[in-house]
Amino acid sequence: MATNTNLYLSNLAVWLVKLHNLHWNVTGTAFYSVHEYTEQLYNQVMEQYDEVAELMKMNGQQPAARLSDYLKLAVIKELDSRDFSVTEALGIIEGDMMYMQNLAKEIRAEAAQADCFQTQALFEGFAAGFAKQLWMLRATRSEGGCCCQG
Ligand SMILES: [Fe+2]
Repeated sequence: MATNTNLYLSNLAVWLVKLHNLHWNVTGTAFYSVHEYTEQLYNQVMEQYDEVAELMKMNGQQPAARLSDYLKLAVIKELDSRDFSVTEALGIIEGDMMYMQNLAKEIRAEAAQADCFQTQALFEGFAAGFAKQLWMLRATRSEGGCCCQG
């Protein structure tokens, strides 16, 4: 299970930087909404990052702590620093969030099998939180507007 939690942790570290990139570089009439939304999201990602590492310590596991390790382990890919349209930015966020939700569900299921209730509870909360945000993101994207609170 430590492998998957370190994978989750590494993804969070890369996602944190990637969300800042979108926060800074999104352009268009809905700039302000997406700018605000990405700030909410990177703050949540930052909280998860610390919670996951502390959970690993509680479970007697060693959290990865080098940026170089995060880049090796993470599946979420960095972006170049350039302008992003609102549609492109929201599409990128939705794709990464779906991946993180699936990984959270996977870790939750493994934890349930191993009767690690703290891990199960934490990742269940993450998966449920992403479910709500994905609904809001999809509703926003289908309108072609913004913003997404949640
Ligand atoms: Fe900011």
